[in-house]
Amino acid sequence: MPKTYSNIVVLTGAGISAESGLATFRSANGLWNNHRVEDVATIEAFQRNPEYVHDFYNEMKPELLRAKPNPAHLCLTKLQQAFPNRVSIVTQNVDTLHEKAGNTNVYHIHGQINQAVCLNCGHILESWGDITTETNCPHCEAVGFMKPNIVFFGENLLYMDKVDSLLQNCDLFISVGTSGVVFPAAAFVQIAKQNGAETWEFNLENTSNNYYFDHHIFGPAGTTLPRFVDGLITEASPD
Ligand code: APR
Repeated sequence: MPKTYSNIVVLTGAGISAESGLATFRSANGLWNNHRVEDVATIEAFQRNPEYVHDFYNEMKPELLRAKPNPAHLCLTKLQQAFPNRVSIVTQNVDTLHEKAGNTNVYHIHGQINQAVCLNCGHILESWGDITTETNCPHCEAVGFMKPNIVFFGENLLYMDKVDSLLQNCDLFISVGTSGVVFPAAAFVQIAKQNGAETWEFNLENTSNNYYFDHHIFGPAGTTLPRFVDGLITEASPD
């Protein structure tokens, strides 16, 4: 009897982009080892020194623009094709590697590096160029109100109504490359499990919320995830 799923949720973190050459946050040479969160990832920091915060994200853009998706991103397109309209990707990442890999139904709950939001009218500006305190909003023309569309600590996540609905109804929850220390994303597995989902964690090591995972697959996601996806597709295929 083929085994299939009706609503698959994939939560990704910086680890899925590591094999594309992008730094994670909490590894030995991670972003948070070289910058203080309080200086670049809080609304107070932005109010205190917007130029410094803009510079931090502007400096990230060229590398993220050049980065290429790796087999972990690419296999998710294969999964979405095998399970049409049943695979959603909830990412904490601000890079666009899921989109470059052809993934659809991608929800950037922490925002996106190539977007800025106008604090005057809410317009979202897509741009890989530098955003500064002089950038005017193309929608309301206000100057100095553009903020990187990055969810700072203390701000509400994006797409949470959609994510809540996905977690209430998912029967397979797959976490890839996240340390599971930043809430509310770190609690998604608990919600999924409480709603009856089978839960899998793909990481190099055990993480802090591993209690809620039924299965742990250790190793680089570029190798482990494609193998798992092929297995799901085979299991779902009629004999
Ligand atoms: N394959 C699988 N997992 C990997 C790989 C890999 N090749 N490389 C690293 N990892 C794992 C690490 O073991 C770690 O558990 O990815 C995880 C990365 O953890 P973090 O650096 O904490 O990144 P993340 O979990 O995405 O951080 C969550 O914190 O600061 C905020 O907004 C920021 O979105 C970020 C959030």
